[in-house]
Amino acid sequence: MLGPDCLFGYDGGMTDSAVLEKPENKPQGPGSDPQPLLKVEDLKTYFPIRSGLLQRVTDHFKAVDGVSFEIGRGETLGLVGESGCGKTTVGRTLLRLIPATGGRVTFEGRDVFAASGSELQKLRRDMQIVFQDPAGSLNPRMRIASIVGEPLIIHGLIKDKAELRERVESLLERCGMPRAAADRYPHEFSGGQRQRIGIARALALEPKFIVCDEPTSALDVSIQAQIINLLTDLQGEFGLSYLFISHDMAVIQHVCRRIAVMYRGKIVEAGTREEIIENPQHLYTQSLLSAVPEPDPRRTKQRVTFDGGAM
Ligand SMILES: Nc1ncnc2c1ncn2[C@@H]1O[C@H](COP(=O)(O)OP(=O)(O)O)[C@@H](O)[C@H]1O
Ligand SMILES: [Mg+2]
Repeated sequence: MLGPDCLFGYDGGMTDSAVLEKPENKPQGPGSDPQPLLKVEDLKTYFPIRSGLLQRVTDHFKAVDGVSFEIGRGETLGLVGESGCGKTTVGRTLLRLIPATGGRVTFEGRDVFAASGSELQKLRRDMQIVFQDPAGSLNPRMRIASIVGEPLIIHGLIKDKAELRERVESLLERCGMPRAAADRYPHEFSGGQRQRIGIARALALEPKFIVCDEPTSALDVSIQAQIINLLTDLQGEFGLSYLFISHDMAVIQHVCRRIAVMYRGKIVEAGTREEIIENPQHLYTQSLLSAVPEPDPRRTKQRVTFDGGAM
């Protein structure tokens, strides 16, 4: 994976940490592993605000401001919140695609932000991302074979062209694409197919963990379920862990057994799906839930609105 590898202003502090360390919020099922696969502690990502003629940094925008959570092996944690609350920034920061301002990320006990050399190389194989916009995330000038095969070449994991071709075709096939797709270009495919290609690329290095950043939000409703089913099947087959990001509580509650609710750079509430859905504590969570369509038209729901205020 590409991106800046620097970490500035690391304070390692645990102050102002978000919610998730309460015993009742400990992961269920696979997540109750004594050593979680991924541990995020007090993560902070601030973006500089520049102003004036010289574009000097005058302030910082706290896109992620003290976020903590854990993900167990084979587990999916849902990260839900409205657009702009910092979800993508969390995902990208923990993968080192954006430099963190502070905090600590541990993967299988290894410090992600401190890793370098072969340890970093290994982390880059183990931690992948599926992007929201399958059109924008696939290079339009590259054939699908190169797009899916590129990580294998970069990491030197194949010995010849024939092996590369076979690996790419079997990845495409596993993701529900025809093998012949390898010779074509991204624009020749629909949104759902392009997302399958993006998933095949993310799988190429046999990762243990994938950030799924709104993987279905750009797709037609009829296609969304297919992509979710593919991700669920792959999780069962390869024992993958996911951080599943979405603004849509309906999708999140379908996919995730544990949910963290994010608002303005912080996690305001976290717990099991049942805890969050049946007994939401935070007004913001209630407003997200009230936007989920009611499947039974005879029942109506009262819309809850939340316009900020005290947290
Ligand atoms: N590179 C950046 N520079 C400055 N601000 C950014 C940058 N990336 C994201 N932001 C801001 O950080 C906030 C959180 O963005 P993002 O993580 O993309 O939210 P979400 O994924 O929840 O929609 C937004 O207000 C966005 O405008
Ligand atoms: Mg986003």
